[in-house]
Amino acid sequence: MVEERIRSQSESRRVSSALLLETHGLTRHFGGLAAVNRVDLRVAEGEIVGLIGPNGAGKTTCFNLLSGFIRPTAGTIRFDGEDITRLRPHQVVKRGLVRTFQLTTLFQELTGLENVLLGLHLHSRRSLGRALFSRRRFPPDEVARSREVLEFTGLASQADQLARNLPHGHQRVLGIAMALAARPRLLLLDEPVTGMNLDESGRVMALVKTIRDRGVTVLLVEHNMKAVMGTCERIVVLNFGQTLAEGSPAEVSTNAKVIEAYLGAGLAHARG
Ligand SMILES: Nc1ncnc2c1ncn2[C@@H]1O[C@H](COP(=O)(O)OP(=O)(O)O)[C@@H](O)[C@H]1O
Ligand SMILES: [Mg+2]
Repeated sequence: MVEERIRSQSESRRVSSALLLETHGLTRHFGGLAAVNRVDLRVAEGEIVGLIGPNGAGKTTCFNLLSGFIRPTAGTIRFDGEDITRLRPHQVVKRGLVRTFQLTTLFQELTGLENVLLGLHLHSRRSLGRALFSRRRFPPDEVARSREVLEFTGLASQADQLARNLPHGHQRVLGIAMALAARPRLLLLDEPVTGMNLDESGRVMALVKTIRDRGVTVLLVEHNMKAVMGTCERIVVLNFGQTLAEGSPAEVSTNAKVIEAYLGAGLAHARG
């Protein structure tokens, strides 16, 4: 059992909490490129942690590794004390580690409600296949649970709209709702507010805080620095696959190496 504790930087009332996710030397090569290079990532239960870095830094590859979509070249991933390094995506979901995707990956021809219903079945490929096949006959308890998730995410009035007819912002939130239906303990959000206006992104970041307050730990990749700085308690900065810096939003945003990495990559505009 992992008994290690991490001190939460910005919330003094929560002195410490159990380590939920821990990677050791996490590495993934693509040919000669080390997309993720010896990353030691630690996320304590109840935290909102930001994973940031210039384009190509390895953030999405990290998520692909954590969620079992690709295998590491080296290193280990522990979740709630269990080694999950070699598990397949549905096995990872079953343990409570659930991701959303950078791009919307909804079932465009299904309704909001049906998409969330399918989210309930993400933990099993067979179950997902069956659910897709018999989607007009979902059990009442699953429908009720999915309506709750839609309500919670503010999408109740869109339950019967086809996903493809929803505005972009609502499609992104529906992606989060699908992930929530799978009952995550740790939610991995890949660029949840990218492409949203100020209003929409504010609402989504408020939703992220509410999700955490309901007991779900959050690891967040996002380019919108206002969103990251205003929401995350701790931030890990990747650059060329390696951890460049780690700390509170205030520490990271004044770190010379971090500023240089962003400016060097020509991403200064992303910091506003
Ligand atoms: N499937 C892949 N095959 C080859 N190279 C990849 C693959 N996925 C990512 N990469 C490369 O790995 C690096 C990290 O990419 P990525 O994790 O998507 O970065 P980020 O999400 O931080 O922008 C990039 O140089 C990218 O081109
Ligand atoms: Mg990415």
